[in-house]
Amino acid sequence: MNVLRALLILVVLVLVGTAIFIWSGVYNIAADDHHTPVVAKALEVLRERSVARHAQGIAVPDLDSPAMIAEGAEHYAAMCTGCHLAPGVDRSEIRPGLYPRPPNLREHGVDDPAQAFWVIKHGIKMSGMPAWGTTHDDAAIWNIVAFVRRLPNMPVDEYQRLVGSTMSGDGHAHDHDSATPPVHDEGEAGHHDAEGDAGHDHAGEADHRHDEDAKPDHDGPDAPTGDRPSAEPEPSAATDG
Ligand code: HEC
Repeated sequence: MNVLRALLILVVLVLVGTAIFIWSGVYNIAADDHHTPVVAKALEVLRERSVARHAQGIAVPDLDSPAMIAEGAEHYAAMCTGCHLAPGVDRSEIRPGLYPRPPNLREHGVDDPAQAFWVIKHGIKMSGMPAWGTTHDDAAIWNIVAFVRRLPNMPVDEYQRLVGSTMSGDGHAHDHDSATPPVHDEGEAGHHDAEGDAGHDHAGEADHRHDEDAKPDHDGPDAPTGDRPSAEPEPSAATDG
């Protein structure tokens, strides 16, 4: 009986203590104040177990169709590069400040398509990862998965060709088109390198160029076309949706 009473008092004390802690405001919610290793590990396991469990039973369609991959590439370029990078996009202004840091999908891609689908559709609480299923149907999300699987080691020109093909091909009216980095096929870019091309002017309209302006992104007639997207501002593509 005494043990039970002691336990009860302990539970009440813990609850009251927790409430006081939460209410007091001493906890630092800042994204630049990182978790202790124990808490970080607990959250990682929580996330991994939760995703694995919730993705159970999701039937994965055939993801090898080039049309799906191209369609997914266009969505990825418009919505994901600011946080997850892409071929030719090695940095962004939003990524370093995010906590948890978004994984570099350009390098790692995704291992498990069902889990990737679930995460992209539902997002992850208390992180920057949005639930894209609120604005995109399952087919669109599978296209993105099909593309992200191919991302590791994808050459910059292949990425640009994929993104460019859906952009110019069907006049795809995606909400985020205006924020998509300009992409050219090799031949076209070659003509304009010396005088500054239309794509460059377009990028200049973006309201997000402050620190990019200091860094000329084509300072010579022979500037390799493959380097250009890395010099374009990416974050606006990820944050305005
Ligand atoms: C605003 C930033 C942001 C945007 C935009 C964003 N993500 Fe994420 N994403 C994150 C963060 C942060 C995580 C990691 C969350 C965590 O670890 O708790 C994440 C995790 C993921 C994961 C899980 C990866 C893994 O290995 O566990 C996938 C897959 C993913 N994102 C795909 C996408 C795709 C595809 C898009 C575009 C449609 C996208 N994300 C857009 C921030 C973002």
